[in-house]
Amino acid sequence: MNLSSEIARTAFQARISGVGSYLPTITLTNSDLERMVDTSNEWILERTGIQKRHVCPSSETTSDLALRAAQAALSKAQLSPQDLDAIIVATVTPDQPLPSTACFLQAKLGCRQIMAFDVVAACSGFLYSMNIAHDFIRAGTYRHILVVGAETLTRMVNYQDRQSCILFGDGAGAVVISKTQSSESSSCIMSSQSVSSGAFTDILQVSAGASRFPVTIERLEARQNLIEMQGREVFKSAVQFLRDTCLEALNKAGLTVEDVDWFLIHQANLRIIEAVAKQLKIPIEKIPSNIREVGNTSSASIPILMSEKIEDGTLQRGQVILMAAFGAGLTSAATILRY
Ligand code: ACO
Repeated sequence: MNLSSEIARTAFQARISGVGSYLPTITLTNSDLERMVDTSNEWILERTGIQKRHVCPSSETTSDLALRAAQAALSKAQLSPQDLDAIIVATVTPDQPLPSTACFLQAKLGCRQIMAFDVVAACSGFLYSMNIAHDFIRAGTYRHILVVGAETLTRMVNYQDRQSCILFGDGAGAVVISKTQSSESSSCIMSSQSVSSGAFTDILQVSAGASRFPVTIERLEARQNLIEMQGREVFKSAVQFLRDTCLEALNKAGLTVEDVDWFLIHQANLRIIEAVAKQLKIPIEKIPSNIREVGNTSSASIPILMSEKIEDGTLQRGQVILMAAFGAGLTSAATILRY
């Protein structure tokens, strides 16, 4: 197994020093959805693998979920908010359009004055943010960066659209990425890759609410401030984007599918994950999933899964993990690390 020459050359490496997650206690089950739209528990389970999702209470916001996940990650890393040099929050459901959710989180954590900003890359947002943090660390600029994926998607779901409302849930996951000397630790990020293809902006979008289509009564009545999705098109592109991003990340790291212990793939739809596994010949046992209990939490999906699988002992230090995601844009990203 070879580290790519690109990664091996640098003096500093980035390792995950702590992981945490948070799911609100309120849940929305398939039976609840049966009472809201023309659907059934059987249809949803068979087509998506989802049985329930978590819902943020109306008194809380995305930064409240992010705060709990961040506190858990900091505690695992045995660090305090004062140790952080930067905060990156991946979200498509910010507390407000302005300022960034990262600034709200910074205030809630009580950090000193450090860089804090949001990344908008839909379900790929967490890996985009990890990859940005990785580059900052390797440049030697920062020691500890908090990367959070946090979403309150149930606030952006059209509960009159049975095709999309069954998918999405709320939650947050966080990691602390820390600088190590190349010689210090075998735990490191081995390759990272983030791309987007703007040719597909219309197949998954929230069209109203910004400069292109400012909010009007008519647009609110037409529910254009909520998620609009061409499900079949997204499905097809998702499989292709995930396959390509996994292959590219493996290639950059000089690894093959066999070298990877665990594949953490964005929890969008169980059938998408199964199709990617088939195309890349990944044994399905190497792909943990929590979609049944959590649904699609967009940028929070991978860090929540990672945190749960560390907690239950599945993921162990020293193992090689490939994380891959796709999302609206269309965006896709992958990160390979030795945990
Ligand atoms: N309950 C019952 N029937 C339904 C439902 C439902 N909830 N939704 C759709 N149907 C019907 C359709 O109306 C259609 O009926 P028809 O044949 O009479 O026209 C039939 O089921 C089949 O519809 P399809 O859209 O072809 O169903 P499909 O198998 O593609 O499943 C789904 C739909 C689950 C949305 C799937 O396309 C999918 O998962 N796509 C990817 C979505 C996704 O991953 N989105 C998140 C992207 S990540 C991000 O960035 C946020």
